[in-house]
Amino acid sequence: MCPPAHFKVTYSINPWMDPAKPVDVPLALAQWEDLRDRYRSLGHVVEVLDPRPGLPDMVFAANGATVVDGRVLGARFAHQEREPEAAAHLEWFRAHGYAEVCEPVHVNEGEGDFAVTASYVLAGRGFRASPLSHGEAQEFFGRPVIGLDLVDPRFYHLDTALAVLDDAADEVMYYPAAFSPGSQEVLRRMFPDALIADEASAMALGLNAVSDGRRVLLPQAALGLFEPLRERGFEPVGMDLGELLKGGGSVKCCTLELR
Ligand code: ARG
Repeated sequence: MCPPAHFKVTYSINPWMDPAKPVDVPLALAQWEDLRDRYRSLGHVVEVLDPRPGLPDMVFAANGATVVDGRVLGARFAHQEREPEAAAHLEWFRAHGYAEVCEPVHVNEGEGDFAVTASYVLAGRGFRASPLSHGEAQEFFGRPVIGLDLVDPRFYHLDTALAVLDDAADEVMYYPAAFSPGSQEVLRRMFPDALIADEASAMALGLNAVSDGRRVLLPQAALGLFEPLRERGFEPVGMDLGELLKGGGSVKCCTLELR
């Protein structure tokens, strides 16, 4: 995770970002600390990446890389505003003993568009990741990569439209309307028992969630997801990341998973 010390909305690269709306940095920091402390109180280890001035979106650490089986696929950002974040992440991984680190050729924004289940890597495309990044990820991770087409600009990254609930059992939740008709069909075939999110929960970025297979941390405003999660045996943990929503991100965007 990377604290939002320099968080701001000075440019707009997704429909959630309005540079005219002020951002309360102390509040953003307090909300972020709540999330970090929640992970720790649930028994997870949280590593903290130093924030850099001039990189207001760096708080969205999920975009900095994708890590599977200890292999690190770096990011390459679609927008020049975020470009330097990629090197900061690579440096961190190299300094922390990760031996297999790949600097990508094609645009991918880390876990923004890559979601890892037990059997697959699901990969979004349409707004950010290049479709060519999917082949690059498949070659590097040696896992089948399934391309999914995103069609609604509000759900510009896969992790705004789909969350992995149990990466040991290929269990996911998603919002169908964010995907093309063909990709919806693919998702139905692959995950016939998926939890289908309602529009209001998706609009609260309820799918921008992190699950450890039991506890699911998600925006507290995504009310429609709490009961269905409980029915499936998960424990929903509501978080308030309202300030970061102004940048177009929530729980998952702030969290890069070190698999
Ligand atoms: N403002 C950031 C951007 O548009 C938000 C990124 C959110 N991160 C995510 N994993 N969806 O790039």
